[in-house]
Amino acid sequence: MAEQIEEESFAIDIDQMELPPAVAEYGNVHLRPVDSNRRLKQLFWLEFELSRFAMGWAPCFPDWDIKGELMRLAYLHTIHMKALKERIGELAGGGINERARSPVSFREGFQSLSLAPGLAEFAFAYRALVQALLEAYRKLEFEMDPILDAPSLDIFRLIEMDSRTHLEWPERFIRFAYSEQPTLNQRYTSWTLYTNQVILTMQRHAEDKAVKWPTPLAIEAIGPVPAVAAPDVRFPLHDPKIHGEANLLRDSSSPLNDSVKQMIYINATEMTSAESMAYLYYGVQNMPMDFYIDVARHTWDEVRHSQMGVRRLKQLGFQTEHFLWAGTQALTSDNLPTIFPEFYATLTMVAEPCSFFKKRKSIDAFWKFGDALSAVQSEFDISDERMHVDFGQKWGAKLFEHMEDFETAKSVQEKVRAQRLRNVGVQETEIEQLLKNFPSLCGFTTKELVYDQY
Ligand SMILES: [Fe+2]
Ligand SMILES: [Fe+2]
Repeated sequence: MAEQIEEESFAIDIDQMELPPAVAEYGNVHLRPVDSNRRLKQLFWLEFELSRFAMGWAPCFPDWDIKGELMRLAYLHTIHMKALKERIGELAGGGINERARSPVSFREGFQSLSLAPGLAEFAFAYRALVQALLEAYRKLEFEMDPILDAPSLDIFRLIEMDSRTHLEWPERFIRFAYSEQPTLNQRYTSWTLYTNQVILTMQRHAEDKAVKWPTPLAIEAIGPVPAVAAPDVRFPLHDPKIHGEANLLRDSSSPLNDSVKQMIYINATEMTSAESMAYLYYGVQNMPMDFYIDVARHTWDEVRHSQMGVRRLKQLGFQTEHFLWAGTQALTSDNLPTIFPEFYATLTMVAEPCSFFKKRKSIDAFWKFGDALSAVQSEFDISDERMHVDFGQKWGAKLFEHMEDFETAKSVQEKVRAQRLRNVGVQETEIEQLLKNFPSLCGFTTKELVYDQY
């Protein structure tokens, strides 16, 4: 019985927590471990909500560099979450359990501000929320005992290093926001006032469930997770009506199609994986917090892969306009339960593991042709992708949990691979054989490169 009570006490979150006697009853002087725990949880949830805020808005910006920056900011917030989560688990009061969610007031406050009518308004809200978070860190820093709570303070010190990055990012969008457009400028001013009111309300009612929020402005939001991700004009989209139905990676019109350097173009295309991951991060609710921490890292990795690809293409004298690029599959409430688990599972159970064969052969070819950077970037790529395959094993089945026929990681893996083969027209009798032989399965789902040609 005692054991059961102990377990239960770890399954509570800040919404339900009945606190034991805390600082208030002892004259507000010394934080007990349980007080630190509770305060750190608030910071943890603010970091989580900020990561969703940034990730959900990345698809709204029509610029791959900026989308990537936002995904990186989101990832940095999850690094903070990871460190805080570990520390919270050390302190009395319960860890962040699998079912824990942000306090209602945080969820509602962030939701209100995520409905920004423009990019500048979003940037303003992001900066104001980051400022509120940093103030909360600073306040707690002064309240914590420098010896007793040193492990928490050490985490704050590391987080402080990122604060400049978080505060500087919005600057370029807000300094001269709509300065030449009086009507929009007025809208922006109302938005800034509204943002400040929402944040004040959130701070005053951090643990309340029924909060009276300021009246929302009567303006239309353009984010988060727009129905169509904003395209970047520097990356012309592949349009089946103009360019034919051909699969970009299998029957590529790329000027590098006859060269091993096509691998670099493939790296560059990974920005669409990154953007789909951002939709996934924002759209999938109620997963354990470790899922979000892993998905944020996965998303940031795909951003890096596309960045290394684009950088190398440019070094080799190409421009992104020389190639065609696939658009991102956006999120709608209809496709969330079907397309997204499948997208994630196909990525981590077919595309990524299959890519290893091609990458290893490309690495050998790049070394042979004396192209060290292209070889090394694919070597780093493999390290990242190996981790993504592990993430897929860990979370693929859980994402499918609500679909009754997907139960274990192994059955999900087989179903996803079989589906992939059906999509490329393989007969049922052959599918069974192919599932037993991983390299030949990959042969059906991906095209070989011309390794002997640089
Ligand atoms: Fe990748
Ligand atoms: Fe990956």
